[in-house]
Amino acid sequence: MEKIVINGNIPLNGVIEVSGTKNAALAVIFANLLVEDICVIENLPVISDVTVSLEILQAMGLKIRMLNKNTIEIDSRNAAGGTSPLELVRKMRASYYLLGAELGRFRKAYVGCPGGCDIGLRPIDRHIKGFEALGAKVTIEGGYIEATAPKGLKAGNIYFDDNTVGGTINVILAAVKTKGMTVIENAAREPHVVDLVNFLNTCGARITGAGTDTIKVRGVEKLHGCTYAIIPDMIEAGTYMIAAAATCGCLKITNVIPKHLEAISAKLEEMGVEVEEYDDYMIVSRKNKLVKTNVKTLPYPGFPTDLQPQMCILLCLANGVSYLTETIFESRFKYVDELKRMGASIKVDGRTAIIEGGAPLSAAHVRAHDLRSGVAMVIAGMTIKGRTEIEEIHHIERGYDNIVGKLCGVGADMKKIYIPDALSYEMVN
Ligand code: EPU
Repeated sequence: MEKIVINGNIPLNGVIEVSGTKNAALAVIFANLLVEDICVIENLPVISDVTVSLEILQAMGLKIRMLNKNTIEIDSRNAAGGTSPLELVRKMRASYYLLGAELGRFRKAYVGCPGGCDIGLRPIDRHIKGFEALGAKVTIEGGYIEATAPKGLKAGNIYFDDNTVGGTINVILAAVKTKGMTVIENAAREPHVVDLVNFLNTCGARITGAGTDTIKVRGVEKLHGCTYAIIPDMIEAGTYMIAAAATCGCLKITNVIPKHLEAISAKLEEMGVEVEEYDDYMIVSRKNKLVKTNVKTLPYPGFPTDLQPQMCILLCLANGVSYLTETIFESRFKYVDELKRMGASIKVDGRTAIIEGGAPLSAAHVRAHDLRSGVAMVIAGMTIKGRTEIEEIHHIERGYDNIVGKLCGVGADMKKIYIPDALSYEMVN
């Protein structure tokens, strides 16, 4: 086990580069199962979720070659469905994409129930509804999901009652090689849905409407290999924007798509933070006191749930009462108790955190409860004078590429420290 130790109260200044987006990279990696050819994927983030997803594909017979630390070659010509190792599948959420991809390629899928951050129940009923609309029979038994369509899938119309990113992507994966036209209504519009579709279209798929709420998938018989670069991670970029504001710093954040960051820029500006947008970089700085505000998470293009805990830190630093409402995941405030150890004054009432900002935070020993709240602890630590220690940082490393190195590169004083197992057992339990 490792922990991050931070000596805070130092403004971040300099240039920080954003990596490829985790949630697009994972969808694209699993989509390779459908390609049955060789693809080169560039701009992959170096994070443990990517490593685990590649290990899963390798165990299923795909050949993976690292061309450099951010580029891999995936040869998916030989693969066996239904063979993904449960212990790896349970390490991440995105392994649910095996369902759509295996169903699309082998007409059957047999996959362990996925893991991922503990931020709510996270059922997959909407994915299942989508597969059933394409003619698959789906059962869940003994911790495994089985989906079968022995005579092949048939194109269909799917209307999602509620937004689902994973469900939208899974149905696209199942439909891409299914004869006829599948129409997905009330589809998710997130940039990583668009990125996955761009990848599939580069491989010869015929999908239109990604980025709107109606996606049309015209099934093709075959896909072919391609070279494809993953888009920059809007959540990583948003995290650094918030970190610049929280530490009273000035960051030039490079390799971004400013359009994806509009909801975040708007909120930061409302709070008195300066945000300058350029073609592929942003400059975020703060000289003045933060102004309190209210934030509500929504599907894209609304304020992203994956920046909710980071935003909570900023609201803790703004004088007055702010309301932070989480509408996507029902249990995404579990980290609040960790912030209370740092002196934050927050009351959670159902889906809303009522934050009484302005009280000084103090250094403490805390733990990363999940990926995004873990990085929120890092932001908090960087604003506080003294030594903050964050345990269980494997959550953070699932989704942030070289976070300690990148933040030290812009002035943060932090390091990773290895904790021997026996000691960590004592500390965690
Ligand atoms: N939901 C259902 N049934 C379903 C699917 C979803 O009830 O069949 C519920 C979920 O429980 C949740 C809401 O609908 O309350 C939205 O879930 P969605 O399917 O959109 O999310 P997801 O696919 O599980 C992905 C990202 C999340 C990100 C959300 C929302 C991946 C691997 N995960 O999750 O990323 O928060 O979309 O944008 O792409 C993260 O990166 O930290 C993260 C949690």
